[in-house]
Amino acid sequence: MTEPFASRMIKVNQARHWARLMEMAEIGAIPGPTDADRGVNRACLTRLDREARRLLIGWARDIGLSVSVDSMANLFLRLEGQDTEAEPVLTGSHMDTQPRGGRFDGIWGVLAGLEAVQAIREGSIWPRRPIEIVAWTNEEGGRFAPGCMGSMAWSGSEPANRWDAVIDSDGVSFRAALEQHLAEEADLPRRPLGPVGKAKPVAYIEAHIEQGPILEAEQLDIGIVTGIQGSRWFNVEIRGKTDHAGTTPLGLRHDAVQDMIRAINALNTLTHDPEDILRFTVGRIEVLPGSSNTVADTARFTIDLRHPDAAILLSKGDAIPQTVEAALQDCSASVSETFNAAPRQFQHDVLDAIARAAQLNEARYRHLMSGAFHDAQFLASVCPTGMIFAPSRAGISHHPAEYSSPEQLARGTQVLASTLLDLASR
Ligand code: GLV
Ligand code: MN
Ligand code: MN
Ligand code: MN
Repeated sequence: MTEPFASRMIKVNQARHWARLMEMAEIGAIPGPTDADRGVNRACLTRLDREARRLLIGWARDIGLSVSVDSMANLFLRLEGQDTEAEPVLTGSHMDTQPRGGRFDGIWGVLAGLEAVQAIREGSIWPRRPIEIVAWTNEEGGRFAPGCMGSMAWSGSEPANRWDAVIDSDGVSFRAALEQHLAEEADLPRRPLGPVGKAKPVAYIEAHIEQGPILEAEQLDIGIVTGIQGSRWFNVEIRGKTDHAGTTPLGLRHDAVQDMIRAINALNTLTHDPEDILRFTVGRIEVLPGSSNTVADTARFTIDLRHPDAAILLSKGDAIPQTVEAALQDCSASVSETFNAAPRQFQHDVLDAIARAAQLNEARYRHLMSGAFHDAQFLASVCPTGMIFAPSRAGISHHPAEYSSPEQLARGTQVLASTLLDLASR
């Protein structure tokens, strides 16, 4: 059977898809004022993460998918192709959430892949190529920073041991959490890490909520993502000296908080962009010893810097250490870079395949760039890659009020299913 005829035979099941999303959202649920404001806190490599993965694995096995896991705990579910030797089409996203996250960021892409594959099976279609669904480990970076560790290690952007010593807020290292997780998942078949041998995908398609307001404002069904802006993350530590808050004259202090304020002000000036394209965020601040009547000897903060143009991201990011240094009055500082995701443009043939699938399903669409980073950013260095966005209510994300309707998500999943079938038939 050839495209597009076969694609007309597949129909995703909206009720089943939504029911699975809601069942998943119970794992780590944050209660909300209304049903549409119930968030999720499901950090990577925790008991809740394992519970969510087990639920997914149960559903996948029920529809005949085979399960495997690699040394970064990336989880793969495979629908075998008629040609078992053919390179697979890969789809998926992540299952971890922000500490106060929503019910759709990440998990929709994984469950959309599952629903798409189930719809293809129910259409009695057996594609030539295998289709694999992946849940990447630690996309959010909420427990262990940075995000996208699973996809970075898998794609070879960073060595798999790069984050061994990264610790969470309880002092648990990423390596320890990963080893405990893998030990608890020892019953699952293991696969090599990376796009090696038969695991090299012919294409990667990630479905994700938009996390921005454009699709809703324009009353569109899906976004075809043309690329992802670049991101750089830094940790800054300012070191001074503790003293008594009541007795120490200002002129004798080495106050880490005051120098942190100076540094952040200088960084705001460095990154000021009248066009609001360069995005600079300080999202986490820590002050030690953290006592109201003690001058702080240590202040730490994070920097998230983003721009679609690689040259601007390079020059502004590279200027951060000197800018911090020059702003200090009484303390010293160290700046370390923890994440560097170059801007990516996706390839036309994948974007065209998604557009054809949207047309076939009468979905209203537009092309747009992603301001958020995604695992797809790293997959794009391995194989032709694309993303499908579904609308987000009021553009809200990384927040319990994140919401997309059952109809919006089913439409996006339908477009994903047609795209996967097309790519897996070639
Ligand atoms: C990913 O969640 C991002 O911060 O863009
Ligand atoms: Mn996400
Ligand atoms: Mn996210
Ligand atoms: Mn993300």
